[in-house]
Amino acid sequence: MRISLPGDKSLSHRALMLAALAQGTSTFTNLSPGVDVAATRRCLEQCGIPIKDRGNKVVVTGGGGFKTPENDLDAGNSGTTARLLMGLLAGTGIKTRIVGDDSLSRRPMDRIVRPLQEMGAKIHISARETLPLVLYPATLNSLDYTIPVPSAQVKSALLLAGLVSEGSVTVKETIQTRNHTELMLQALGVDIQLSDKNVTIGSAKQTIPKFSMVIPGDPSAAAFPAALVTLLPDMEITFDGLLLNPTRLGFFHALRKMGGDVTWKTKKRVLGEEVGTLTVRSRLLHGLRISGDEIPALIDEIPILAVLASQAKGETVVRDAGELRLKESDRIKSICENLRRMGTRIQELSDGFRILGPARLRGAAITTYGDHRIAMAFAIAGRVASNETRLDNPDCVDISFPGYHKLMSQIAR
Ligand code: S3P
Repeated sequence: MRISLPGDKSLSHRALMLAALAQGTSTFTNLSPGVDVAATRRCLEQCGIPIKDRGNKVVVTGGGGFKTPENDLDAGNSGTTARLLMGLLAGTGIKTRIVGDDSLSRRPMDRIVRPLQEMGAKIHISARETLPLVLYPATLNSLDYTIPVPSAQVKSALLLAGLVSEGSVTVKETIQTRNHTELMLQALGVDIQLSDKNVTIGSAKQTIPKFSMVIPGDPSAAAFPAALVTLLPDMEITFDGLLLNPTRLGFFHALRKMGGDVTWKTKKRVLGEEVGTLTVRSRLLHGLRISGDEIPALIDEIPILAVLASQAKGETVVRDAGELRLKESDRIKSICENLRRMGTRIQELSDGFRILGPARLRGAAITTYGDHRIAMAFAIAGRVASNETRLDNPDCVDISFPGYHKLMSQIAR
C-alpha cells in the first residue's frame, strides 16, 4: 500500500503565520486539514489577514497589516496556535485577548510570557499563568535567552517576536527541538544564524518574501499507520511526500531499535525541509529504553510507542518525559490508565512509565480525555485486541487528522 498523508501540522501553523508577515500573496497546498490549523487560520483572519481557499490551495495575503480583532482569538485545543501567536502578535501594535478550550486553559503559558516580557511585551495573564491572556501594544527589544524546558513552541514564539523586534534575538536550547521555524526563515532569506542548539535573528526588522509550498505529509500522523502495519501480519506501507526532518524522526529510530522494519529516503528539499518516502513492514518487536535528549524528537509519538511496547517482548522504559503531563491531556496518566485497562503490565513513573510486554490486549472502554493522540493510539490498540474497544470521544482525532479512522479501516481490511 502507498499513501500520501495530510500536511504536517507544525509546518502548516508556521506557513500561515509567516505568510501573514510576508510581502504579497503566498500559496499553500496540502495544508493540515485538522481543527488546530483551522484555529490558527481563523485567528489570523480575525486580525485582518485575508486567507482564501482556491481549489485545493490556500492563499494568504500578507504584509503584516494586523488589526485589533473585534473578538477574542480562540486557539481552541491548539497549544501551537496560542503560543506561536503570542510571539507573532506581541510586537505588532495591536491588542488581542487569547482564549482556549478547557484543556488548553490548563496548560502553562508562563514559559512564553516571561521571555516575551523580558523583550518588552505587555501581557496581562491570570495568577495561574494560563489562558485567557491579553496582549497590549508594545515595542520589543533584544533578547538572549536559554530555554529552561525543551520546547519548540517557546523557541518559535521568540523567533517570531524577533522578526518584528528592534534588537537581535538569540534563543539557546539545552536539547534540540524541532527546528521548522528557523529552517523556514533561513530558506526565506531572513538574517538568521543557526547552529544545533542556538538561533540568532538579526537586529534589523526582517522582510519576508511571499512564498509557495506544498506542505509535506505529517510524520507524527504517519507513526499511527506505521504502528498498525508493524503489528499486523504480512503488511507493508509506503508514505510518499513525507516530511523527513531529523528532529521529527525519533519514533522511527525507536521503532527500528525495537526490531521494526523501517527505511526512509530523502528525495528533495522543500523550504529547507527534507521530504521523501518512508516504508514500514510487519515485524515482531522487543522493548527499549528512551530518555534524555532522545525525548523531544518523539514527544508526540509516545502514546503510540507505548501501544507498540505493550506488544513488544521484554521491558520498555520511558524516562525524562515529564512534559507529557502538560500536553492536551496528562499523557502519562492517559497512557497508563488505558493500557492497564486493556491488560498491560505498566508502571506509572513521575516522568514516564515502565511496560513489561508482550500483553494479550483485551478490548476496553477508553477514556481519551479529548486528546487526539490518545484516541489515535488506542484505536490501534483496539484493532489488535480481543473483543471490542470503545473510545469515549473518537471524533477528537479531527484535531490533527480528519479521516483517520477510515484510513485505519482501509489498512486493516
Ligand atoms: C510543537 C511543539 C511540541 C509538540 C507540539 C507541536 C510545535 O510542543 O508537542 O505538538 O509545532 O512547535 P512543545 O514545544 O511544547 O514541546
